[in-house]
Amino acid sequence: MRAVDLIIKKRDKLELTNEEIGFLVEGYTDGSIPDYQMSAWAMAVLLNGMSAEEITNLTLAMARSGETLDLGQEVYPVVDKHSTGGVGDKTTLTVAPIVAACGLPVGKMSGRGLGFSGGTIDKLESIPGFKTDLTTQQFIEILKEHQIVLTGQSADLAPADGKLYALRDVTGTVQSIPLIASSVMSKKIAAGAHAIVLDVKVGQGAFMKTLDDAKELAHTMVAIGKLSGRKVIAVLSPMDQPLGSAVGNALEVKEAVEMLKGIGPEDYRYHCQHLAAYMLLLGGKAATEEQGLVLAQRAIDNGSALEKFCELVIAQGGDVSYIDDLGKLPKAGIIHTIQAEESGWAAEVNAQEIGESSVILGAGRLKKGDPIDPAVGIMVHVKIGDRVEKGQTLFEVHVNDECKYNEAMVKIKKSVKISNEPVEAPPYFYGVIGL
Ligand code: URA
Repeated sequence: MRAVDLIIKKRDKLELTNEEIGFLVEGYTDGSIPDYQMSAWAMAVLLNGMSAEEITNLTLAMARSGETLDLGQEVYPVVDKHSTGGVGDKTTLTVAPIVAACGLPVGKMSGRGLGFSGGTIDKLESIPGFKTDLTTQQFIEILKEHQIVLTGQSADLAPADGKLYALRDVTGTVQSIPLIASSVMSKKIAAGAHAIVLDVKVGQGAFMKTLDDAKELAHTMVAIGKLSGRKVIAVLSPMDQPLGSAVGNALEVKEAVEMLKGIGPEDYRYHCQHLAAYMLLLGGKAATEEQGLVLAQRAIDNGSALEKFCELVIAQGGDVSYIDDLGKLPKAGIIHTIQAEESGWAAEVNAQEIGESSVILGAGRLKKGDPIDPAVGIMVHVKIGDRVEKGQTLFEVHVNDECKYNEAMVKIKKSVKISNEPVEAPPYFYGVIGL
């Protein structure tokens, strides 16, 4: 078999067999298929799609590219969550400790930033010492001892996704239902959780721009999850504007930890509480969503969720003094503010423009392997539907390089549209699939 023939087959809209998909995934993982061929193939998939059978085969081949954990032997039940990616989406950092503090183990493999969307692993690395490349053994040991573990992709678990994810990030091949579904679900299957809550984002700052596409992605992933014997549901949530206020790695860690103390933006609070409630429901700790909400709130109120986060940081080698004193987290040298140029109501706070601006500032990558600057980012002080007065501060931009700021500033200003008429605030959720 030759990789070039499989690229041509996909380019010509033909279906690949299970063996052909296995050949590509194995070859890419062991290095015999180079980046340039895999990126050409990924682009052909993005343009021409895949059948349901191809998506399942791709997911299983990527899950098989490394070890697959059977956590049933070790800890039961383990719950996981995964977002399809958004701007300001620091939900895992808040929700995982809430759920673990309620007595439900959370074992999660997360990603780095992808395109304009941030990644949990990059955020966690703002905490000095925090280790995100755990071996399988370390993953299991930390999960058993602390009921919570958050790791990045390693050479052990779904390494094919780790490589392909980094390649897609810089080759314009992120926005593809087959590639997102297989990327998310291969990690979930390899990491062994028994119950999975998927958070499928929809809107300007999501990879899925329409509710129909988001539903298709959600159904695809729920079906793959069920085929592999997991309990899976997918929440559909809006991502037209950033979630919460903070966009950028250390800024998001700060906002996530503050939410564990019960402080922070309302949309973010609502989102975290509901995702935690669904995880508790799916993992059997709550009989209803309402009961899950009560348990999640209790874990915040009694401090056990914050304690669990600190336990996680220590268990994974991080310096917990940065959590005790959030002021120690990396800080940018300059903070610029951007004001409203007119009065009215905020009709648009475009999450994609803001996400791209944060990448320009250095919070994300333009090329594979680029270093990121944990300190830079944007605090967004306006939400769709808000009344805005001319001169009001809409954004605080945390910057370490003035040239990058000048470029990002144009985009940030463009992200906001002010209307003369009142604008309705968008909903916090669009629904749940698979419950
Ligand atoms: N999250 C993932 O893990 N993979 C994708 O492709 C997109 C979001």
